[in-house]
Amino acid sequence: MKTLMTVIGTRPEIIKMSPLVPLFDVRFRHLLIHSGQHYSPNMDAVFFDELKLRRPDAVLACGGLPPAEQVGMLMQRLEPLLQLHKPDAVVVHGDTNTTLGAALTAAKHKADGMCLIHVEAGCRSHNPRQTEEVNRLVVDRLSDLMFVPTEADADNLRAEGIASGRWRVTGNTVVDSCRRTAALVDDLELLARRRLSHAGYVLATLHRQETVDERGRLAEVVRALEAIAAKCPVMIPLHPRTVKNMAEFGLAFQSPGIRVIDPVGYLEMIGLMKNARFCVTDSGGMQEEAAVLRVPALVIREETEYMHYVRAGALKLTGTDFNAILTAAQPWLDSLEDYARIQKLAIDFPKDCSLVIADAIEEFLD
Ligand code: UD1
Ligand code: UDP
Repeated sequence: MKTLMTVIGTRPEIIKMSPLVPLFDVRFRHLLIHSGQHYSPNMDAVFFDELKLRRPDAVLACGGLPPAEQVGMLMQRLEPLLQLHKPDAVVVHGDTNTTLGAALTAAKHKADGMCLIHVEAGCRSHNPRQTEEVNRLVVDRLSDLMFVPTEADADNLRAEGIASGRWRVTGNTVVDSCRRTAALVDDLELLARRRLSHAGYVLATLHRQETVDERGRLAEVVRALEAIAAKCPVMIPLHPRTVKNMAEFGLAFQSPGIRVIDPVGYLEMIGLMKNARFCVTDSGGMQEEAAVLRVPALVIREETEYMHYVRAGALKLTGTDFNAILTAAQPWLDSLEDYARIQKLAIDFPKDCSLVIADAIEEFLD
C-alpha cells in the first residue's frame, strides 16, 4: 500500500479537504498532519467535529507567527516526519503558508522519489503582490500532480507553460463540502435562534490581508458595511485577524444594524449563507459557496480568482471603495429581482470531485 501524507492547517483547508481525508484513509497508508496555523477552537476544532473528520496524526503548532517564521517552523517540524514515514506523496491544498511550507519541504525530497500533489491548483488573482498568489505560483511550479477547479484555472497553467500531463480539471472539493452541509441545515431553527428572516439580512466576512491590514482600506469597508446596515441588518462573523486589526487601528462598528459575532462553525455558516439576501466577502471559499448556493455576493477585492462566476452573473467584483460597494449593493437592497435571477442561474459543477481526485491519485501512484 502506498503512503500518502496530507498537510492542512487553516479553516478553508480543513473544510475543503474534509471530503478527501476519509477516501485517503481507506485507499492509502494515510497520515494527516495539521500545521496548527489555525488553532482557536472556532477556527479549527469545530470543523473536525462538524465535518466528522478524524483527528490529525500530528499537530505542528505553527500558529500565530509572522509569515516567514511560520513557513520556516513548519518546514523544520515537518521534515522529521517526512524522514520517518517516507511518504510516496505529500498532498497540499490551496495557497496558505501551510501549503507553501509543506510543498517546499516535500520538494526537498524529490531526489528520493517523493511526489507533491496540489489540490485547488491553477487559481490566479494575477496580483503578484498578494501573498496567496506567491504561494500558488511556487507550489504549482513544484507539483507533480495538480487538481484544478475549472478550465479557466487550467488556462492559467497553460499560459505559464506547465505541461498538461501534470494536471487534471476536476472541480473544487468545496462543492462537495458545501452541498453535503447545506442538506443538513435546519433553516427554521437557525433563523429563529439568530432572530433573522429568510433574505432579510446581509452576511459579511472580511479577513484578507489586502482588505484588513491597511487602516484606510479597512475603514472604508467598515463605513460601507455601516451604510448597508442602515437599510438591512448585517451579520458579521469576524475573523481573528480583523478583530486584532480593528482594535489596533481604533476602528469599531457603530451601527445598531450590524451584528458582529465570533467565527461560526460550517453548518451555521452555510445556513447563514443559504438564507442571506446577499453576501459581502473577500473570502475565496465563500465565493465558490455563494455560486453553489446561488446567493448573490459582492466581492470586496480588486481582483478575484473566481472571474468565471463574475462573468456568469453570480458575483459582483467591487474592490474596497465605499461608493463602489454601495452602488453594487443598492439594487440588491432595493429589490429581490436580481436575487430571483441568481437563484435560477444555470452553473454546472463537475460531479463527485473528491472521488475523481482520490481515483486519480491512486492511479498516479500505482
Ligand atoms: C490565512 C491564510 C489566508 C486564508 C485564511 C483563511 C496565509 C498567508 N493566509 O490567513 O490565505 O484566506 O488563513 O482564514 O496563510 N488567529 C487566531 N486564531 C486562529 C488563527 C489566527 O487568533 O486560529 C489570529 C492570530 O493573531 C494570527 C492572525 O489571526 O496571527 C492571522 O492568522 P494567519 O493564520 O497568520 O493568517 P490568516 O489571516 O488567518
Ligand atoms: N467559514 C466558516 N465560518 C466563518 C467564516 C467562514 O465556516 O465564520 C467558512 C466558509 O464558509 C468557507 C471557509 O470558511 O468554507 C472560508 O474560509 P476563509 O474565508 O477563512 O478563507 P479563504 O477561503 O478566503 O481562504
